[in-house]
Amino acid sequence: MKKIIIYGGKKLHGNINVSGSKNSSLAILASSILFEKKVVLKNVPIVEDIKTMIKLLIYLGKNIKIKRNIIEITNSKKFGKSFIAPYDLVKTMRAGILVLGPLISKFKKAKVSLPGGCAIGARPIDLHLKFLQSIGVKTYIDKGYVISKLNNIKKKNIYRFKKISVGATVNSILASCLISNKIILSNIAIEPEIIDLIKFLKKAGLKIKFLGKRKIEIQGKKNLNQISYDIMPDRIEAGTYMIASAVTNSKLTIKKLNINHVQNTINYLLKANIKVKKINKNSVQIIPGKIKSVSFKTSPYPGFASDMQAQFMSLMNFANGTSKIKEEIFENRFLHVSELNRMGADISIMKNVATIKGIQKLKAAEVMATDLRASVSLVLAGLATRGKTVINRIYHLERGYENLVYKLKNCGAKIKKINV
Ligand code: UD1
Repeated sequence: MKKIIIYGGKKLHGNINVSGSKNSSLAILASSILFEKKVVLKNVPIVEDIKTMIKLLIYLGKNIKIKRNIIEITNSKKFGKSFIAPYDLVKTMRAGILVLGPLISKFKKAKVSLPGGCAIGARPIDLHLKFLQSIGVKTYIDKGYVISKLNNIKKKNIYRFKKISVGATVNSILASCLISNKIILSNIAIEPEIIDLIKFLKKAGLKIKFLGKRKIEIQGKKNLNQISYDIMPDRIEAGTYMIASAVTNSKLTIKKLNINHVQNTINYLLKANIKVKKINKNSVQIIPGKIKSVSFKTSPYPGFASDMQAQFMSLMNFANGTSKIKEEIFENRFLHVSELNRMGADISIMKNVATIKGIQKLKAAEVMATDLRASVSLVLAGLATRGKTVINRIYHLERGYENLVYKLKNCGAKIKKINV
């Protein structure tokens, strides 16, 4: 089992370069199923979730070449012979469900393993399926697989999502790409990763236009053009390192980010008395201060990202005062609370609200990583706490943070990964 060991309480210094966005890469990699021609993606973070998606694409008949952070995707002779995303390749990564839409669009049929529940909540796919059914796809569940078939596309396709969902928006856009009829989607998610996917598809020749803030019209076409595309920076990774700077009372410069994507995190850091100096549109310097408590609730973009909640909660332990955090996206996304409490934090939970009494100092302890963002919140707590923090089961961290240990070490953190 791999562990991370941190000797914390040290100030950090220097620069951290943000990698490409994991979630944007996952959606765009899934979209490569739509292509006959070559797709080249640059700035892809080579993390475990991306490796799993690559395995899935190879299983579906794609040829994949990886050189550093550049991925080249072409079709092998096998492509088009299988429409199955097997359980073994989907079980560790919920984003496996994102191949459902493009398989339907390309081959009019798909058999994709249900992603199942996960630690942070039930994570159903009803919204994905309801859209597909609305355009005429027959779907049913058999032995843990979603089996889908499109015989006749309905003529008029205007669909409104009952609830905003990132994954259902991605799947619906990708299902619509190669379909000749016009499709209008409303109440879609507008996370920057969705906008990146739309930018990518438009560059490949697809007609997509915004009819309103959360409404798009897609005019599908038979073939997409060969494309080379730069994936956007990972806004959650950028925000995580901003908090690493704040929580260790250090002046780090975070480079290669998109400042517009992290504006919400910057606003809340300002409220917490952490200054963020804009160097240019791709880099900021964090100027730490005496941390103040801040309360917030998570919501779809442009609101406070659920993916930043655990990291901010870690910071709030070092604040002066009490903060309340309401988690409105996932019902069980407080797995980090018991581990932070093991480090001496004073956090209580009532339904989906966590109350954090800022005690300004934690105690180093042995803790367990539970999901991706919970895991990194423990790294942040460990960096800010004197003594030896041991983080067990770091598999989740490796799913989403590229070279985390290396990046932090480079800034003077005493952190190492061991294999026992
Ligand atoms: C994506 C992100 C994840 C992020 C989340 C919310 C990827 C690979 N993952 O996850 O990092 O935390 O968005 O920003 O991009 N829901 C339903 N039915 C559905 C689908 C979702 O009820 O069919 C619910 C979910 O249970 C959740 C909410 O809708 O309560 C939002 O989930 P969704 O936006 O779909 O998250 P993911 O796409 O899974």
